[in-house]
Amino acid sequence: MAGNAEVTFQWTDGGRVPTIGFIGAGNMAKAIGSRIFKSGILGKQAIMVSAPSDRNLGYWQKLGVLTTNDNLQVINHSEIVFIAVKPQYFDDMIRDLKNAGTKLTANKCFVSFMVGKTIRIVKQKLAEITSDVSLLEVIKVMPNTPAMSGAGCTVICHEGKKGEQFENVSNMMKLTGICEEIPESLMNACGALSGSGPAYLYMVIEALADGGVKQGIPRALAYRLAAQTMVGAGKMVLDSGLHPGVLKDEVCSPGGTTITAVHQLEKSGVRAAFIDAIQAAVERSNQLGS
Ligand SMILES: NC(=O)c1ccc[n+]([C@@H]2O[C@H](COP(=O)([O-])OP(=O)(O)OC[C@H]3O[C@@H](n4cnc5c(N)ncnc54)[C@H](OP(=O)(O)O)[C@@H]3O)[C@@H](O)[C@H]2O)c1
Repeated sequence: MAGNAEVTFQWTDGGRVPTIGFIGAGNMAKAIGSRIFKSGILGKQAIMVSAPSDRNLGYWQKLGVLTTNDNLQVINHSEIVFIAVKPQYFDDMIRDLKNAGTKLTANKCFVSFMVGKTIRIVKQKLAEITSDVSLLEVIKVMPNTPAMSGAGCTVICHEGKKGEQFENVSNMMKLTGICEEIPESLMNACGALSGSGPAYLYMVIEALADGGVKQGIPRALAYRLAAQTMVGAGKMVLDSGLHPGVLKDEVCSPGGTTITAVHQLEKSGVRAAFIDAIQAAVERSNQLGS
């Protein structure tokens, strides 16, 4: 599950390096932006980040990239603009740009991280600050925070014909881990699985560690064992290509300890709990998108 930062980066458009910006400077911008920045494919002046407060901008200033409290500066600076604000704040963001008299007149690619917001809705709002909608390329990505460690999991989609920045954005996301192209109809489901997934799995790590602590394992050791077991199980699924059920059966000796524990998990409805959780997250995505 290593990242792909060592992979030779290929820009489209004859290798010309585009400028990029992030509107929103929080967790997801940091996870993606810092990985792209640390890969060295872009110079410090090629990246600009905005947020209304300075709360998160200090992080970016330490990296040495350009920062501002003015979203319009990011849009003017960047050929590719990542929208990394919470979906609830997108309308405010557009309203402020409109009030500032923004009318974009050059080609611009916007990449939305926003859970629930469809490309059509994002494009409709961006059209309010653009002189001609044909200038807009809108891409949707759903990353997750392990991008920061190069072990991210991103899905990406576009609307209609692929735009000229699609491959550049897809390649940038591959610097943070894997990046799979999907139809937009699967976006909320993938967001519920891999976008939100780290939170569920951190809970599993905590719970496993608590189980270990109850049996006398020192807490710090219990977290290390639980986390590495999770990494190892994921790697086995990816590397072997085997069905997870086959791998599970390999750990369960007849009459043994593991199958006894698996029986307890089944009695607790662990599978149904995850399926229900993903359904709940999809329903919430649908609400946030409307
Ligand atoms: N976190 C995840 O695991 C995850 C996974 C998949 C997708 N996403 C998506 O990624 C996006 C960002 O999430 P996050 O977790 O990074 O949120 P976050 O940590 O709360 O960061 C949000 C950022 O947006 C800034 N902001 C708020 N209103 C703004 C405005 N009007 N203009 C410009 N910036 C504004 C905030 O400014 P301040 O710094 O001043 O507070 C903050 O820097 C969301 O759309 C979310 O759906 C997140």
